[in-house]
Amino acid sequence: MALILGIESSCDESAAAIIGTDRTIHAHRLQTQEDEHRDFGGVVPEIAARAHAHHLTPLIKAALDDADMTLADMDAIAATAGPGLIGGVMVGLVTGKALAMAADKPLIAVNHLEGHALSPRLVDDTLAFPYMLLLVSGGHCQILRVNGTGNYQRLATTIDDAVGEAFDKTAKILGLGYPGGPQVEKLASTGDPNAVPLPRPLLRSAEPHFSFAGLKSAVLRAHQSGEHNDADLAASFQQAVLDCLRDRLEKALREHGGMESLVVAGGVAANMPIRAMLEGLAAEHDMRFVAPPGWLCTDNAAMIGWAGAERYKAGLFDPLDVAARPRWPLDKHAQKARGAGVKA
Ligand code: KG4
Ligand code: ZN
Repeated sequence: MALILGIESSCDESAAAIIGTDRTIHAHRLQTQEDEHRDFGGVVPEIAARAHAHHLTPLIKAALDDADMTLADMDAIAATAGPGLIGGVMVGLVTGKALAMAADKPLIAVNHLEGHALSPRLVDDTLAFPYMLLLVSGGHCQILRVNGTGNYQRLATTIDDAVGEAFDKTAKILGLGYPGGPQVEKLASTGDPNAVPLPRPLLRSAEPHFSFAGLKSAVLRAHQSGEHNDADLAASFQQAVLDCLRDRLEKALREHGGMESLVVAGGVAANMPIRAMLEGLAAEHDMRFVAPPGWLCTDNAAMIGWAGAERYKAGLFDPLDVAARPRWPLDKHAQKARGAGVKA
């Protein structure tokens, strides 16, 4: 059994965790920056980078203290090296490099998306490769065939906004504040999902991808019309998202069958109606449905430590001069989708 120190700093959560290759979570600490960014209605990169520099070292110290361990007990240091806001990524990666150098431990540069993608395996030791993954976060909306550590085939992506982004923008339109996803979900639970007619972009389209920009604009127009109450708007928006996710996944399952499990990961996977829809879809296709607990869906360092553990077991280490990458696709062979290339 090996011990991995995981470090996360790609967006607005500073986090440190100590994870065993046997799936033991020895410690996980997280400091959200919601208060720092709330006044701006979104994450300000410069403020995020400074906050990571402020929080990370004490968080790592606290995680080691929680586990009653020292750096010398670690077998490797795993830090997020991208994709994400580059200032924050650099703070976390350089911190990881410094610790690896000082303690003479191997460094593992983790792709944040791989952290999300492998996170379900941290809590489910029966989840085997390959599996069908819906990866839904603030910056991404992808369907992936997860073949193994470092081995991903992207089956679909968004041609404009990510799904979490659509939740956040809808929250902003409805004056719900930041971060928006959980608040839209809460408000939606009191509204009528069929009250407001909203578009389902790319529904039944021949290309496999997602699109959410038009939905967001429709929410804005419906809100400005003054004809609907906010709860009905939130519920109708969430229903449109559910329908789009379901339709695109059905297409992927039709065209790429043979996988035992349907898995969801990323911040939006914390959404209960989305989880319920996926559970039903998996049952219809005789698949097992696997979703990590909510705290492991949103950004955290346990998933980075676990991706580090999977890489450690595979003997995948990185040199101390490894670069931080603002963009870093999981599937490097994936064709660019129409309109893509802007969101990290
Ligand atoms: O994975 P994550 O923590 O950060 C990124 O890597 O992007 O995802 C954050 C995103 C945000 O857009 C947030 O609004 C969304 O996940 N989110 C949710 C929920 N909880 C978080 N969206 C819908 N429903 C939720 N309950
Ligand atoms: Zn994330």
